[in-house]
Amino acid sequence: MAARAPILVTGAAGFIGHATAHRLLARGERVIGVDSVNDYYDPALKEARLATFDGVDGFDFHRADIADAETMARLVADNGITRVVHLAAQAGVRYSIENPFAYERSNLAGHLSIMEACRHAPGFEHLVYASSSSVYGDKPVGGAGFTEDEPAASPVSLYAATKRACELMSQAYAALYGFPQTGLRFFTVYGPWGRPDMAYFGFTQKILRGDPIEVFGEGKMARDFTYIDDIVDGIVGALDHPPARGQNRVLNIGDSHPVGLMEMIETLETALGRKAEKIMRPMQPGDVTATYADVSKLAALTGYQPRVMLAEGLTRFAAWYRDFYRAA
Ligand SMILES: NC(=O)c1ccc[n+]([C@@H]2O[C@H](COP(=O)([O-])OP(=O)(O)OC[C@H]3O[C@@H](n4cnc5c(N)ncnc54)[C@H](O)[C@@H]3O)[C@@H](O)[C@H]2O)c1
Repeated sequence: MAARAPILVTGAAGFIGHATAHRLLARGERVIGVDSVNDYYDPALKEARLATFDGVDGFDFHRADIADAETMARLVADNGITRVVHLAAQAGVRYSIENPFAYERSNLAGHLSIMEACRHAPGFEHLVYASSSSVYGDKPVGGAGFTEDEPAASPVSLYAATKRACELMSQAYAALYGFPQTGLRFFTVYGPWGRPDMAYFGFTQKILRGDPIEVFGEGKMARDFTYIDDIVDGIVGALDHPPARGQNRVLNIGDSHPVGLMEMIETLETALGRKAEKIMRPMQPGDVTATYADVSKLAALTGYQPRVMLAEGLTRFAAWYRDFYRAA
């Protein structure tokens, strides 16, 4: 049997992209990684993630901006790419208040340039791209959590608006050009090699230094915390089950088990073996009160089932953090 073409993974120096690329390599795929390695957060962490690919067969890395449509088209054409996992983006809700144009370039122009490259690729099979739970806005969530058929028409941050725009752009391209696409709405992903701009990571830095932590929303916020390995299960499962031609399918991918911020902090204190000094603060602009996912669609399609509970996941994160930063 002829070897399959490599898979393009964008955001390969990022948290989720690096873990996804490793999983694909481990099952014998070839992977072409792309990332601009920007300085939204410490580039040394991104370089360290990239260093984990040293000596791994089948991985090829390109330092490039996904908004550079010519370079993306060339990468896809020259390598005969037929499957793409598109995870590069400008993430973060709070940063979009100060840096709105970073979202325009990475999330809107970037998504378009990836789709343009895919639509011209002969025999193109599947584009899987990252969306976000933030598209649901600040709406009350009940029952089994947000379902994909909510209108998702009231974003409360520019980040959320660009992620919803990506879904709509993909819908138009699926209708116009037919190539199958899946948008995955991630719900707060955490774990080893995670993102320093996220609350659990910043809390860890502060708790280990003995600094106080700021608890926004008076601690009343609740989130689905989804462990990185579970997210990767869902991404790879979705990649392996493309929708029919002409379809852009949007799926939730979360833990489906909301945890209050105070409970998350207590669990982290246990994982670190230290108590946090807490300063209570009001909600920040763009934050949402509660999000958790109904994942029944992804489960029916791929057998997806989150396996790692928060206490176990944060224990693994704490061990990685101490090892990586040689922290006490
Ligand atoms: N981590 C989460 O909880 C979460 C939640 C919802 C959605 N998401 C989405 O999942 C995807 C991956 O997130 P992550 O947590 O791994 O974030 P990350 O910031 O760690 O990874 C994104 C990577 O994309 C790269 N990048 C940004 N703009 C680029 C550009 N123009 N060209 C090339 N590379 C560029 C960055 O350098 C970074 O390494 C993103 O699309 C994000 O919006 C993540």
